[in-house]
Amino acid sequence: MSEDEEIRSAKRQKVLDSEAERVAEAAEESLRKHPHGDRDQPLVHHDAGEFSGLKRHETTSEQAEKLENGPINPFTGNQLGQKYFDILKVRRDLPVHAQRAEFLKIFHSSQIMVFVGETGSGKTTQIPQFVLYDEMPHLTGMQVACTQPRRVAAMSVAARVADEMDVSLGEEVGYSIRFENKTSNKTILKYMTDGMLLREAMEDHDLTRYSCIILDEAHERTLATDILMGLLKQVCLRRPDLKIIIMSATLDAEKFQKYFHNAPLLAVPGRTFPVEIYYTPEFQRDYLDAAIRTVLQIHATEDQGDILLFLTGEEEIEDACRKISLEGDELIRDQNCGPLKVYPLYGSLPPHQQQRIFEPAPINPSTKPYARPGRKVIVSTNIAETSLTIDGIVYVVDPGFSKQKVYNPRVRVESLLVSPISKASAQQRAGRAGRTRPGKCFRLYTEEAFHKELIQQSYPEILRSNLASTVLELKKLGIDDLVHFDFMDPPAPETMMRALEELNYLQCLSDEGELTALGRLASHFPLDPMLAVMLIGSPAFGCSEEILTIVAMLSVANVFVRPASARKRADEAKLSFAHPEGDHLTLINVYESFMTASDKGGVHQWCRDNFLSYRSLTSAKNVRSQLRRIMERYDLELVSKYGEIGEGVYWDNIKKALVGGFFMQVGKKKSGTGKTYLTVKDNQEVLIHPSTVVSKEGEWMIYNEFVLTSKNYIRTVTTIKPDWLVEYAPKYYNLDHFSKGDVKLSLERIIERVEASKKFDSKKK
Ligand code: CDP
Ligand code: MG
Repeated sequence: MSEDEEIRSAKRQKVLDSEAERVAEAAEESLRKHPHGDRDQPLVHHDAGEFSGLKRHETTSEQAEKLENGPINPFTGNQLGQKYFDILKVRRDLPVHAQRAEFLKIFHSSQIMVFVGETGSGKTTQIPQFVLYDEMPHLTGMQVACTQPRRVAAMSVAARVADEMDVSLGEEVGYSIRFENKTSNKTILKYMTDGMLLREAMEDHDLTRYSCIILDEAHERTLATDILMGLLKQVCLRRPDLKIIIMSATLDAEKFQKYFHNAPLLAVPGRTFPVEIYYTPEFQRDYLDAAIRTVLQIHATEDQGDILLFLTGEEEIEDACRKISLEGDELIRDQNCGPLKVYPLYGSLPPHQQQRIFEPAPINPSTKPYARPGRKVIVSTNIAETSLTIDGIVYVVDPGFSKQKVYNPRVRVESLLVSPISKASAQQRAGRAGRTRPGKCFRLYTEEAFHKELIQQSYPEILRSNLASTVLELKKLGIDDLVHFDFMDPPAPETMMRALEELNYLQCLSDEGELTALGRLASHFPLDPMLAVMLIGSPAFGCSEEILTIVAMLSVANVFVRPASARKRADEAKLSFAHPEGDHLTLINVYESFMTASDKGGVHQWCRDNFLSYRSLTSAKNVRSQLRRIMERYDLELVSKYGEIGEGVYWDNIKKALVGGFFMQVGKKKSGTGKTYLTVKDNQEVLIHPSTVVSKEGEWMIYNEFVLTSKNYIRTVTTIKPDWLVEYAPKYYNLDHFSKGDVKLSLERIIERVEASKKFDSKKK
């Protein structure tokens, strides 16, 4: 640095220092004026005029740290509490902290940057705060967004960062996930699912309220993140003031750099301890059983340190937790092992239960010198692979599976399948064991299987999904030329064609591929286009209240609880709500009964007695009221004919409305067979899923879901009249597009009959 530069730099430093002081002074001033912390009108908020000089003012890390060291919270004007300073100490030890100056340097000098670092290095919690202290967005009325592929992560991290910043969750720091928005007009840092940011982009193409957008967990390559990357690349050209940070846990960052015109990279050196890997000598037939045995063995024989077990889904996880707790108790009793606490972790777990994974491990009350250690076991889905970091894990048990979405465009079936993980995932999982000290990872597969059977990286979601929603979103985003959209990995043309076709049948896209009025309206609903179209069509059948209920119930986790210990009683309880002709219709009965029980009080017990999930039903209620608000906003009539018309007509109207959305998901009973159905158009042989309560199954059934297991099932079904298909979806049921066979023959007869009766009707008139 030349002398001149040095002087200039020193001057600048002084100016900036005084700016930082000004902020602190303003904060103190605010505190004097509002000693009770007038939370509605904090003086330091949105006062862009007074502090306009601070816009993009580029702080140094020293200045930021000075502010962080207190005593006044620059974002609220409140005095900082002791808890804040306790956490601050911990935060200063995170690996990203050492890189703060370097981060700011790159952040200031380029519009887009890529940031990679090991899981647990502090990316998700610290980087957004680095940005906040640099931008002071509360002074400019802007916001910083940080996207997460998973709802759980968005909620949990927002709560943590609100604590770190000594603010209330939902105020300065909030989160936004589908059907739940915990933000306010004070929010300056918003954790959100990538899907939610995409929704916002549909309304505001340039995402004008954000000064900086952080795409976290970019390595996950979710559908929404991929679309956002393509989109932000364009937005950046229109908004040179917008900053983008792509964050990723794996070191495979080059692909992101290249995609973003060789954006600069900052890599935080990893700080993981060595992890010893163990393989099983043989293939494990029952991975769940093997996993439970391994966890118990670790508890009985290994030194202190917590255990993380990866499983695939809620049911399996709850089951494993129960078994581990039970058998753990035996170990404690018979073998003098230390106490054991087992926690589940999966996406639909309520937030306060999620937070419990951060509780410290139980301590062995025994003071004897040979007392065995107490231990915490976390049984988690892939969430714990990179999204959430749990300190204290020393042992990882990895059966090698996760639930993954797969899509077969030929038969239009998207399903979640338990599939082998990739090598990259296996490495991430193992890495979780080495966060606080050297650890061990037990892989429940052979070393040969690892090398020969696991693929290197999982395929991006865009290559494994039905793209109907995505295409509708892109159209709404004003992107008409889908073929030339700059995808990081372009989807298969067949998948794209299928999506366009589906949207055309739903009349969301015209034959020219343009967004129709219906398509535009459907895009306002955070729903699959099929469900949105069904909802929009329902007032015409006088049953929008009922269809709202069905859509809400289909949008939440299964409301029926079926514990292994009481399957029979649970099935009986379910039957008490059954509508003999439809699982969809049964959902209405369940919801209505729940609402009646809620009014009476004692609803928790009522749910337990009826084997229903209180949590799912409450969230259905919440989803329903949000969808209802969207209906109101767009003047869609809210109507129910319950009690006004005969029961037969009442349920038929609801079924007709269901056909309006589900006409592409229809099964027809195969002639001459007892139970087998054929899916319409694709001619797949399917069975009705055993979970159904339908006792009067018809020849034609609509279904909500195609489940691929050892057999093909259709799940959540309702009997319909085929005439309705022809009447309400004539385009789809144009028989020129059907291949010869059973279904086509039946449809030909139905169309003839419908046409004939129409003529008869018109003569009568
Ligand atoms: O994003 P990255 O994996 O790099 O790290 P992070 O999620 O920012 O986590 C940094 C630290 O914060 C870890 O030590 C976590 O254990 C801690 N943390 C926490 O204590 N509670 C949370 N809800 C989230 C993170
Ligand atoms: Mg993270």
